[in-house]
Amino acid sequence: MAIKLNDKFLTSFIRKEELANMQSAASSAYELLLSKKGPGSDFLGWVDLPVNYDKAEFSAIKAAAEKIKKSCDILVVIGIGGSYLGARAAIEFVKSPLYNNLKKDTPDIYFAGNNISPTALSELISICEGKDICVNVISKSGTTTEPAVAFRVFKAMLTEKYGEEGARERIFVTTDKCRGTLKQFSDDAGYQTFVVPDDVGGRFSVLTAVGLLPIACAGIDIDDMMKGAEDARAAYSSPLIDENDAIKYAALRNVLYRKGKCVEILVGYEPYMLMLNEWWKQLYGESEGKDGKGILPDSVVFSTDLHSLGQYIQDGQRNLFETVISVKNPGAEFIIPNDPANVDGLNFISGKSLDFVNKTAMLATLMAHNDGGVPNILLELDDRSAHSFGYTVYFFELACAVSGYMLGVNPFDQPGVEAYKKNMFALLGKPGYEDMKKALEERISK
Ligand code: PA5
Repeated sequence: MAIKLNDKFLTSFIRKEELANMQSAASSAYELLLSKKGPGSDFLGWVDLPVNYDKAEFSAIKAAAEKIKKSCDILVVIGIGGSYLGARAAIEFVKSPLYNNLKKDTPDIYFAGNNISPTALSELISICEGKDICVNVISKSGTTTEPAVAFRVFKAMLTEKYGEEGARERIFVTTDKCRGTLKQFSDDAGYQTFVVPDDVGGRFSVLTAVGLLPIACAGIDIDDMMKGAEDARAAYSSPLIDENDAIKYAALRNVLYRKGKCVEILVGYEPYMLMLNEWWKQLYGESEGKDGKGILPDSVVFSTDLHSLGQYIQDGQRNLFETVISVKNPGAEFIIPNDPANVDGLNFISGKSLDFVNKTAMLATLMAHNDGGVPNILLELDDRSAHSFGYTVYFFELACAVSGYMLGVNPFDQPGVEAYKKNMFALLGKPGYEDMKKALEERISK
């Protein structure tokens, strides 16, 4: 088992009957998902993806990853939101947040097009100077401004450095299979393309070419990752809360939300969890935050953030709960050395492993936060393997969909993301937005 949900730090906040009372709502939401009759049912490709993925595409991903590994020092992955967070989360979780600094036989991987910062883009361009570069641009719609701008810059850079022909061998495009300007343009230019399936939305797409190509380029075993997701799919096949931890997690969140706990903080105890936290925030924030409803997803990495947000969590407004991810086997061992002079007074832990101290910090914090009125859901993960990552992705995706249906929203759309885009296009003078531009400029000048 890759994940175990432990609810012992919830007992003073949720009675057994309260959870049991959610059974009917939870199984209805689960059945709605499986029957494909709920809102957003055009976007359920991720449900069976671990067993139904396109095997030819999967082989092409592996072959392209080998080609990229052989031909560059740096892979620039261009994408935003669901088109980058999953890959970055996987690379940091399975390899390291310091992946680029590790000794390795795989290229450095940098992410671009996930902001509009001239500073970030200039810095990356200077890092790329004198290096061999490949680019994987990822955009389902093919029209998102941030990655499109970055792609313009890197396409020009590669063409100048390698010529049209050489650049063609180094640009890999992941986009919709037939719609969108990026697909049309890539076919015309002769770039190798990979597909974001029609029925998989951005934030559910990490186990498609969107995530798998960069992940494979980092030397991570993507077969093992898919197997993890497949094992999770098999493990979470019961509609019963007591037999299905993904549904139980959805139901527990729902009970807590009804009790006024409208902020959920995902807690990791390892720096390699930071981007998994970010991936999770997008998944839950975009899926549930709509129609005036939804739990606000937040995240921390302890013990680092115990020295920043720890005070608020212990003592601030009591509208939050935590979901703590504990990794049983963190992957490395470190024994605290003895100091005969004991100048720092730490000899009471000399000879102990750092993981033991980290896990003790976790237990201490769980109890302190419980005493401070913060319910804690504990998720125990076996390890940080590719298999566990795939398993965790499926666990959270399934729970998110069930939770969204329990909340009464469409978990698969994101209408709110368009509001800033329309304003930005109008203000930047995009053709077709003239009236809006005028109205916004009047607002600004008032
Ligand atoms: O989950 C989503 O659908 C979004 O976060 C998208 O992934 C994000 O907006 C990027 O879109 P695209 O891949 O079309 O460039």
